[in-house]
Amino acid sequence: MSRLIIISNRLPFSIDKEGDRMTVRQSSGGLVSAIKSYFEREQGHSTGYTHKIWVGSMDSSLEDWENVQKQGNVNEDFEIIPLFPPKECYDDFYNGFSNSTLWPLFHYFPSLVENKKEYFEAYKRVNQLFADKILDFVEPGDVIWVHDYQLMLLPQMLREKLPDAAIGFFLHIPFPSYEIFRLMPTNWKKPILEGMLGADLVGFHTHEYVQHFLHSAKMILKVESQFNNIQYRDRLIKTDLFPIGIDYEKFREACIDETVVEIGTSLEERFYNQKLIFSVDRLDYTKGLNYRLDGFEVFLNKYPKWREKVVFILNVIPSRDAIQTYSEKKGSIEEKVSTINGKFSTLHWQPLIYRYNHLTFEELCALYQVADVALITPLRDGMNLVAKEYVASCIDKGVLILSELTGAANELNEALLVNPTDVDEVASAIDTALNMPLVEQRSRLSYMQRRLKNYDVFKWMDEFLDCLIETKKEQESVK
Ligand code: G6P
Repeated sequence: MSRLIIISNRLPFSIDKEGDRMTVRQSSGGLVSAIKSYFEREQGHSTGYTHKIWVGSMDSSLEDWENVQKQGNVNEDFEIIPLFPPKECYDDFYNGFSNSTLWPLFHYFPSLVENKKEYFEAYKRVNQLFADKILDFVEPGDVIWVHDYQLMLLPQMLREKLPDAAIGFFLHIPFPSYEIFRLMPTNWKKPILEGMLGADLVGFHTHEYVQHFLHSAKMILKVESQFNNIQYRDRLIKTDLFPIGIDYEKFREACIDETVVEIGTSLEERFYNQKLIFSVDRLDYTKGLNYRLDGFEVFLNKYPKWREKVVFILNVIPSRDAIQTYSEKKGSIEEKVSTINGKFSTLHWQPLIYRYNHLTFEELCALYQVADVALITPLRDGMNLVAKEYVASCIDKGVLILSELTGAANELNEALLVNPTDVDEVASAIDTALNMPLVEQRSRLSYMQRRLKNYDVFKWMDEFLDCLIETKKEQESVK
């Protein structure tokens, strides 16, 4: 029985400190919620891994971490190995290379990219700190799975010291087309591709991302692929698509949770006789929040019959607020929200309810359940699990309006797919959604729900890990 080591920059929780009081808060983002579900629900799923370890960076001190552990506030289903990178270098790694260079480039926002040498140096350094940490405790037979764009150099750093280890890598954001990827300086883009190819299996959410990656590897490293397999430095490396799923049953079970039902009932009472539109996103320019608000404004202008009959609850989750493009985004969203409310509100009705805060799991599920429409319109998104969570949570009604530029759109064809920048299309999709007969809503939901149930997060992880082990066997057989 082997150990499974998951490595991601973000751990499943962070520590909030107010004076002496410390609370543990669940991190946001699809990556952590997926892996956390898998780790917590393993009892019912025979994964074959007896011991699970999660390595990630921690932005509080070792002392705070030890205190939180003493208070018993940390989940014990798996072992957590935190890394404490030095503050100055973490800043250039996280706010710098990860989120001001890679993130905007990979999401097709080249004009927001900041190419700074010190960012890349810090990126290398933090990736190396992760490698050193893992090399301290790794044992033969361990299965290592590295996650996401913050750690693209890590697979190769590990491979140098562990030539035979089973190493997987998964990218949770889009891999952009070669025309975008090539914009990166050569002495960065080469090590990034080589870094990923240190893994035995490289996974993506969609077929397009796989093809973009293979094309870039061909153009930049001159490696050829056959049926998504690459022979690189005498090693067979596989690439494939594994569209991440959600913990479907957890969202279904939440429908009958007492707290969820209570919150849902009070929301229904408050918005009695009104239709509810809901959206929840991390604060991010990739999420298309300004266009979404424009679309809602056009909707109120074009379809005045819905005024006083619809409320849009827009929940934005604080994220990466030390980066200027993020803090500016917050300002412009808030301005737009107040313009729309100022323009359309009556003495008895306000069209938009805006929250800039975290939601508890129960609040989130209650909002999913009562919402007549979920309006999810990112400009780019590797997958978007909110769309899947909404569909899973709907009981007997609900319409999903989804951007065609998300990875999730490939699987959720029964949603109303829109181009997020086409505000007229968004406005008319809202009208169509609100007018959609219940029979049609249920029929569309049931197709999507069946798919989400069949390919849930457990299936996603099992398939990736099985494929990784198969790849190792194939490598052995040709030695
Ligand atoms: C996306 C990324 C994750 C990241 C999450 C939250 O889902 O793919 O790697 O953890 O956003 O962002 P943060 O910067 O808070 O970790």
